[in-house]
Amino acid sequence: MQALRGTQDILPEDAYKWNYMESAIRRLCSCYGYGEIRTPMFEATELFQRGIGDTTDVVTKEMYTFTDRGGRSITLRPENTASAVRAYLEHKLYGDQQVHKLFYIGSMFRYDRPQAGRYREFHQFGVEVLGADSPAADAEVIALAYTLFRELGLKDLVLHVNSIGCGKCRPVYRQKLIEYFHEREDKLCDLCRERLEKNPLRVLDCKEEGCRAASVDAPKITDYLCEECQAKFEALQKYLTALGIPFELDPRLVRGLDYYTNTAFEIQYTPLGAQSAICGGGRYDGLVEEIGGPHTPSVGFAVGLERLLLALEMQGLIPAPVRPRHVYIAALGEDAVAEGIRIQQQLRADGVRADMDLQGRSLKGQMKQAGKSGADYAVIIGENELAAGEAAVKSMADGTQENIPFENVPKYIADKESGVK
Ligand code: HAM
Repeated sequence: MQALRGTQDILPEDAYKWNYMESAIRRLCSCYGYGEIRTPMFEATELFQRGIGDTTDVVTKEMYTFTDRGGRSITLRPENTASAVRAYLEHKLYGDQQVHKLFYIGSMFRYDRPQAGRYREFHQFGVEVLGADSPAADAEVIALAYTLFRELGLKDLVLHVNSIGCGKCRPVYRQKLIEYFHEREDKLCDLCRERLEKNPLRVLDCKEEGCRAASVDAPKITDYLCEECQAKFEALQKYLTALGIPFELDPRLVRGLDYYTNTAFEIQYTPLGAQSAICGGGRYDGLVEEIGGPHTPSVGFAVGLERLLLALEMQGLIPAPVRPRHVYIAALGEDAVAEGIRIQQQLRADGVRADMDLQGRSLKGQMKQAGKSGADYAVIIGENELAAGEAAVKSMADGTQENIPFENVPKYIADKESGVK
């Protein structure tokens, strides 16, 4: 049996890298005042259909949807914004009229064609700010992502920013775009031709050669923004500049989910190739209403953690794991093992890694194992040591050995270690 295509195991030798990223994330979210939310891995399919949009690739082609034994249509979450909004409504968080700042880390599922940086089960860290209409909130979430990457040491990331307008100005732009692409329909791929009327903005984002070429002179959304959207977009740029965050205006950036309004942004790391977006997000002022709640302007983003990890590894930015002191206790016979277990328990309580044999090896075999495991000390309890009530404590680095009464072993090791390694 093998892990399914597009999924992967994270073994102990790599898990520390995930912990490293996640602790940086948690530290930063705490400074920015974001509280963690954990929502279920699966939800009613309708939530994503309504939230993400019926014509998006995610909903039409990529969802893991099944009927459960009760006959309900269930979907493994392809992203977490819709679920966060559902939870926000279900628990009436809007009731206190406050801005709610949430973050999450977890698995998402999309039936996509797997390749480097693109998986069927992948992990996102995301934030959602619910109930804030100021462009300062957009600037804050961008600053959070930017600061995370900077604190991790990443270089050569590019922030792309766009505004995709609102319910007032976007329809005018949509119409212009439909007219423009109708004149070039023969150059578009089948999918784009099909979705042109329903979702013309997606053509701008299509990776097909013909669609890209056809898009070159397409009208720009930023030329059609209403006064209010224009003012918000300018304010965001002013705040980003004040924060010292460099950005590129990218009028072709439209994002793949339908809930966005106004701000759309991505942070890209070009060496990742086709899957260069490490972080994507934007404002979604209509989503809470779409899901049945009060008008709640909101903004957020999600970072793909596999892609972040790839970028960190490419730039050699994952520090070696912190290694606690390590002691191997070699004991033979039940009485000696009982003494060993007592010492082991104390060492572990002191924060020392303490291992013992669990496979019935001889004392010689256990000592070999101590060497192999990279232990700093071996604590040996054979027949003679048991009789004397003292263990032989051997430094694996220089081979020196001393006999120490059982009860003093943890302290002896602690004293030796303070100031060493
Ligand atoms: P998204 O752009 O679909 O946005 O995904 C965000 C990030 O998740 C991407 O930039 C990428 O790094 C990662 N990602 C997406 N699909 C895959 C995949 N198949 N394999 C590996 N990584 C992937 C969202 O999901 C929105 N919910 C973000 C958001 C939050 N907008 C507002 N709030």
